[in-house]
Formats: sequence, structure tokens, C-alpha cells
Amino acid sequence: MGLCLKLRTSHVISVIVILGILTLRVAECRNKHHHHGDNGGKIEYPAINCRKHSAVLTDFGAVGDGKTSNTKAFNAAIQKLSTYASDGGAQLIVPPGKWLTGSFNLTSHFTLFLHKDAVILGSQDESEWPAIPVLPSYGRGRDAPGGRLSALIFGSNLTDVVITGNNGTIDGQGSTWWKKFRAGESNVTRPYMIEIMYSDQIQISNLTLINSPSWFVHPIYSSNVLVKGLTILAPVDSPNTDGVDPDSCTNTRIEDCFIVSGDDCIAVKSGWDEYGIKVGMPTQHLIIRRLTCISPDSATIALGSEMSGGIQDVRAEDITAIDTESGVRIKTAVGRGGYVKDIYVRRMTLKTMKYVFWMAGNYNQHPDPKYDPKAIPEIKGINYRDVVAENVTYSAKLDGIQGDPFTGICISNVTITLTEKPKKLQWNCTDIAGVTSNVTPTPCALLPEKQGVDCAFPTDRLPIDDVQLKTCSAAH
Ligand SMILES: *[C@@H]1O[C@H](CO)[C@@H](O)[C@H](O)[C@H]1NC(C)=O
Ligand SMILES: *[C@@H]1O[C@H](CO)[C@@H](O)[C@H](O)[C@H]1NC(C)=O
Ligand SMILES: *[C@@H]1O[C@H](CO)[C@@H](O)[C@H](O)[C@H]1NC(C)=O
Ligand SMILES: *[C@@H]1O[C@H](CO)[C@@H](O)[C@H](O)[C@H]1NC(C)=O
Ligand SMILES: *[C@@H]1O[C@H](CO)[C@@H](O)[C@H](O)[C@H]1NC(C)=O
Ligand SMILES: *[C@@H]1O[C@H](CO)[C@@H](O)[C@H](O)[C@H]1NC(C)=O
Ligand SMILES: *[C@@H]1O[C@H](CO)[C@@H](O)[C@H](O)[C@H]1NC(C)=O
Ligand SMILES: *[C@@H]1O[C@H](CO)[C@@H](O)[C@H](O)[C@H]1NC(C)=O
Repeated sequence: MGLCLKLRTSHVISVIVILGILTLRVAECRNKHHHHGDNGGKIEYPAINCRKHSAVLTDFGAVGDGKTSNTKAFNAAIQKLSTYASDGGAQLIVPPGKWLTGSFNLTSHFTLFLHKDAVILGSQDESEWPAIPVLPSYGRGRDAPGGRLSALIFGSNLTDVVITGNNGTIDGQGSTWWKKFRAGESNVTRPYMIEIMYSDQIQISNLTLINSPSWFVHPIYSSNVLVKGLTILAPVDSPNTDGVDPDSCTNTRIEDCFIVSGDDCIAVKSGWDEYGIKVGMPTQHLIIRRLTCISPDSATIALGSEMSGGIQDVRAEDITAIDTESGVRIKTAVGRGGYVKDIYVRRMTLKTMKYVFWMAGNYNQHPDPKYDPKAIPEIKGINYRDVVAENVTYSAKLDGIQGDPFTGICISNVTITLTEKPKKLQWNCTDIAGVTSNVTPTPCALLPEKQGVDCAFPTDRLPIDDVQLKTCSAAH
């Protein structure tokens, strides 16, 4: 596939191998269930809610030639379908074709469904991307102090929204944005691919997302968010192409995703310094499972660096990373305030990593000089267990903040094998406290061995675990 060509050559092999395995599995499925999935133009798909009304994008004058702008067609379609919100809701089918569009807004009780051969292409015409207010918990645009541009697919103050497909594609055509950003030629914050704000009951699933201008999927100030079965691909040297960024969200479940990215595969956030502290909305009750990540210069899962509203109760399990800088990384700084606590991680399989464990309090990027130097973050109750890592350069770099140690760190049942030329100091620890059990190579003195300890992982279920998907259908 074309995208591989853009990846750094040294990573191409592993990507191709993995994509090859996935393709093989899909091919097997298709043979076995010949009549399931795409049956005479009728497609069945799982969703939190099915819709009574249905329309096809071409009913609104859309042209799928990859050249004609369809921004008006998307907006007209969704405006029309919004009138069914209180009458069973509606779905908009995006049929096979290449559908160029600028930013458009979603509506409530609505499903956007992409056929497997549908490609939504992000417009390269900047006038197709309206400016919108900066996020209150950030106080400014993330790239630039000026404004920010609306996401390609944007939703605010909504209930019950599904963005799904039969593995259809959304291509942000990000390269022109990356070039401008790198050259410092933009005074406005690049758009995200999908951003949902102040919303409840969101599903984003069964899609391939490629080349976002910046972050891919950004649910913020929202609750009951299900992200499932996404393939997210960007060149490993593209700027800020985070995969999924749950930000000030409660009850989020991210599962079965495959992410190759130039930044963190998942970045858990809750606002930036004094702005995040003021808004005070944590990200909490977050499940991340069955994630595969490739990101040579970033984290598999980052907690922060913007964590000023707090991050609590994160449960990550069955995580695979290949050729990635670190596993679950905590990034914070003086001035952030907030907390990162009750973090649970189990069953990570890691191969070719710079760091297995990494946490630090020196991420000194601030929105402006008005941050409060007395706002120190609280980092405690961080649990990692059942980890196998190979070809590792540093086992751990764990640096708390002087006078503000990171405490309650527990690491158990971990086997790390090192690269041919490992660093001499494998565990570099300052200003931290906790215990380890059955970990090799031998941890630092600040994490003494406590025999027989299995670090905690919660056994209760979260409400987002119990969300049931119905079988809906789409004709095209
Ligand atoms: C979806 O498409 C991507 C890109 O072609 C592919 O790598 C992935 O295996 C597909 N996923 C499914 C479930 O078919
Ligand atoms: C989309 O929503 C934003 C924020 O609510 C609003 O500013 C903008 O005008 C909307 N765009 C359209 C085309 O309705
Ligand atoms: C950004 O730059 C453009 C052109 O260089 C200029 O017209 C615009 O006023 C600037 N916007 C802000 C918010 O500084
Ligand atoms: C959206 O919800 C937020 C938070 O509840 C509220 O402050 C804002 O006014 C709402 N916006 C609209 C357009 O209703
Ligand atoms: C969506 O993906 C899941 C696996 O993640 C699969 O079970 C389901 O059949 C897929 N649905 C469609 C319509 O492709
Ligand atoms: C230790 O971790 C490995 C790898 O996840 C797992 O297979 C094994 O069951 C764990 N052992 C214990 C005692 O939990
Ligand atoms: C091991 O890691 C090094 C980088 O430290 C990398 O160059 C090498 O290709 C990796 N080896 C294998 C077998 O993956
Ligand atoms: C250990 O970490 C400290 C604090 O970040 C750093 O100053 C020091 O250089 C590190 N030591 C080694 C040997 O890497």
C-alpha cells in the first residue's frame, strides 16, 4: 500500500509483516463467511444504536471523483438528517468513491457509515477549514497561540453519534499541513481528523484513518466513548500525529486498534497548566486493550503531558509495541497541577524499545508564562505487571520531581532482555518510591524487591464495559 512508501525504510519491513498477517486473517474470514458482511449490497454492522432513516451522500449532489469539493453535500445531508433526531435517528451512507471535503459537523442520533471502498479525502484548501474557538482547558491553540481550525469531522454538544464503516478510509492528506508546520509557516493550529466535544454516547469504529494533519481522534469533555477496530497510519516522522487522545473524558473504551504514528499511539490528556486546572475535568475510567503500536520516537500510551485536570483509573491490558520509544509513559511538569493516579497496566509484549518504563516531571512546555510554579502534579499508584520486553536499550528511566516524589509505584513479573549494546545504568531512578517483585534486570534501590507481590489490576467492571452493540444494516 502507498502509505508504506512514506514510512522510514527501517520500519517498513515490520509494518509489511504485520499488515501481511492482518490481510491474511481477513482473507480467511472472507472465505469462511462468504455471505456475511456484504450481502447483495446490504451490509450489517455493529453499533450502539441503529437508525430508522437512511440516506446516501449522492442524494445531496456529491461527486466521488476525488477532485470536486463535497463540503456542501456533507453539510446539507447532515442538516437534513438532523431533522430525524427525535424520530429514530438517521444514517448517512458514504458509497464507494473518493469524496473530497473540508470540515463538516455531525448531529445527534446519527451514524456516518463508510462503505469499504469509500475514501473521505481532507481538502487542501485552507478556506474549507473554519476557525473555531480555542479549547478552554488549553487557553490557546496547541501549535500556535492564534486560533485553531475545525476538525475534518467535528461534533459538539451531541448525544448518540456513530462514525463507522466496513473498514472504509478517511485520508487527511496531512503532508501539506506537516510541511507548513515544520517550516513554521502557520500561525494557526492544524485541524484534527475527528474531534467530538461536550458529547455523550460516541462510537468510532471499523475504519482506516490515514495521514491526519495533526491528532487523529480527539474526544474531549465527553463521556461513554467507544473506539474500536481502527487502523491508524501515518509516517513515523510526521509531526503530532497522535492516534487517539481521550481528553477530559469519563468512561472511554479503546480496543482492537493498530496504530503506526509519528507521535504517541494513545495520549491521555486533561488540559494544560492554569487553563486545565481552571476547567478541572479529569480523564477517568479509561480502558485500553488489544492495542498494537509502532512509533519509534514516541510512546505506546502517554499519560500527559497535558494532565492538569487529572488522570485517574486507567486500565490498559494486552498491549503490543514494536520499534517504539517507550511503553506507558508519564509526562508532567511543575505548573501542571492535577494528578495521575490509579493507573493499571498488565500484559505488555514489547520488542525493540528504547525504554520499557519511563516517567518524568520535566516536560517543561507551557501555554504561556502565566502558569503557577506552585502547581505541582501528584503522581501516585502506578501499577505495571506481566511484561515481556526484548531488545531494550534502557529498562527504566523514572524521575520524579525534587520535593514532589512520584509514589506508590509497583512493578511485578517483568522480564526484560537487552539489546546487544545496552546502557550500563539500566534503572535510573530519582525522587520516586515503590516496590518491585520478580523483575529482571534488577531494579534500582528506590524500588526494593518485595517477594510475592502481584501489582494491582481492578476486577470490577466499568459501565463502558457493559455497552452492548446491536446489529444494524446499511444498503448502498
Ligand atoms: C482495514 O484496512 C487496513 C488498511 O488497508 C488493513 O491494514 C486492515 O487489516 C483492515 N482491517 C480489517 C479488519 O479488515
Ligand atoms: C460547526 O460547528 C461550529 C461550532 O459549533 C460552528 O462554529 C460552525 O459554524 C458549524 N459549521 C457549520 C457548517 O454548521
Ligand atoms: C496569520 O497569518 C496570516 C497570513 O500570514 C494573517 O493574515 C493572519 O492575520 C494571521 N492570524 C493571526 C491569528 O495571527
Ligand atoms: C455545549 O456544552 C457546553 C458544556 O455544557 C456549554 O458550555 C455550551 O454552551 C454548549 N454549547 C452549545 C452551542 O450549546
Ligand atoms: C467491525 O470489526 C469487528 C472486529 O473488530 C468485526 O467483528 C465486525 O464484523 C466488523 N464490522 C464490519 C461491518 O466490518
Ligand atoms: C508473568 O507474565 C507473563 C507474561 O505476561 C504471563 O504469561 C505469566 O502468566 C505471568 N506470571 C504470573 C505468575 O502471573
Ligand atoms: C534491536 O534494537 C536495535 C536498536 O537498539 C535495532 O537496531 C535492531 O534492529 C534490533 N534488532 C532486532 C532483531 O529487532
Ligand atoms: C540518570 O538520570 C539523571 C536525572 O535525569 C541524569 O541526570 C543522569 O545523567 C542519568 N544517568 C545516566 C548514567 O544516564
